Amino acid sequence: MLSASWRFRRYRIFGAGLFVTFFLGGAATSCLYAQDYPPDRARGKAVYERHCQHCHGMTGQGDGPDAGSLKVSPANFQRFQSFLKSDEELLRTIEHGVVFSPMHSWRGQLTDGEMQDVVAYIRVLSQQTR
Ligand code: HEC
Repeated sequence: MLSASWRFRRYRIFGAGLFVTFFLGGAATSCLYAQDYPPDRARGKAVYERHCQHCHGMTGQGDGPDAGSLKVSPANFQRFQSFLKSDEELLRTIEHGVVFSPMHSWRGQLTDGEMQDVVAYIRVLSQQTR
């Protein structure tokens, strides 16, 4: 499973037409990653609105109502820096959090499925301006 997704990642990095490759590669990776069911963007949106939006903002630009009061600004998912990260990397951050930042670990609060759904939704947000 892991080696397959690595192969895709390499393919994504070297493939022509970065955006298209990204899109297909992302879709393929999410399929490979699927455990019990494929990630669902609509379910991810609901999770996002409930738990993440107040920091990361409606469009994922890190401009939610709580963002101003944080010492570390929430990630802007539309920045290339986030856009280029793999699903696994985002998932790992959600699962374990970021040390010394308000981004805490969501393990225990969200199920594996919910975390995958929310990554799928973050992908929607990160592609909005492209
Ligand atoms: C209390 C505010 C807050 C909440 C709530 C929050 N985050 Fe974050 N998040 C942050 C901050 C701050 C960072 C940036 C940490 C850093 O870069 O040091 C971050 C970073 C991230 C990253 C890493 C992005 C990257 O490019 O590496 C992901 C993914 C993420 N958050 C997803 C989520 C998800 C999904 C939720 C909801 C389940 C959520 N966050 C809820 C504050 C928050």
